[in-house]
Amino acid sequence: MKKIDYPIDKNGWHPSLIPGPIVLISTQDSAKEPNVAPKSWLQMVSFDPPILMFSGTRRNTTEQNILETGCFGVNFVDSSMAPAVYGCLEWFGRERIERSGFVLGDAREIDAPLVEDCRAHLECQLRQTVEIGSGFVVFGEIVAASIWEEVLRVAGDRRYELLDQIVFLENGAYAPVNQIVRV
Ligand SMILES: Cc1cc2nc3c(=O)[nH]c(=O)nc-3n(C[C@H](O)[C@H](O)[C@H](O)COP(=O)(O)O)c2cc1C
Repeated sequence: MKKIDYPIDKNGWHPSLIPGPIVLISTQDSAKEPNVAPKSWLQMVSFDPPILMFSGTRRNTTEQNILETGCFGVNFVDSSMAPAVYGCLEWFGRERIERSGFVLGDAREIDAPLVEDCRAHLECQLRQTVEIGSGFVVFGEIVAASIWEEVLRVAGDRRYELLDQIVFLENGAYAPVNQIVRV
């Protein structure tokens, strides 16, 4: 297998080498003004306690809200939501939520909303932040999780089909995670 040079800049990756799960991070500020933003640089980092991380941007609303309130919701996007999620960046704040048609609901354990349209949610308490390069990494401990009951009504691999998660590949392109192969 002959190898040739490839860009070190992610923007030059076609194909993408690191697909990431597309989620909506839901937050509110200290005055309870809600915010929703898509993220795909998301990763588990600890089993016990359960901690995940996402990499965001220091001065964006999401990260500012998390620093203010100490919590955030992770809402998993399915393929039916992809156009709205990619299109939502046209607006900010409450206008983004309204124009995108995102419906917000209450979380169980955190003072942040959840995006009701999504089929699964994780509720996180802020544990730590790390500024590295141009990234602002947020570590959150998962304190509650919920999933659409229909997903658990079906057996085995059909659950992945119903969850219908998607991963970010490159600008304007995603892939569904619905074909399960057992080794
Ligand atoms: C599918 C998708 C995935 C994205 N993933 C990330 C990400 O992982 N990290 C990030 O900083 N921005 C990401 N963005 C860009 C942010 O969503 C964008 O900067 C947004 O305006 C931030 O909103 P906020 O200021 O309300 O937090 C992504 C955008 C899209 C459409």
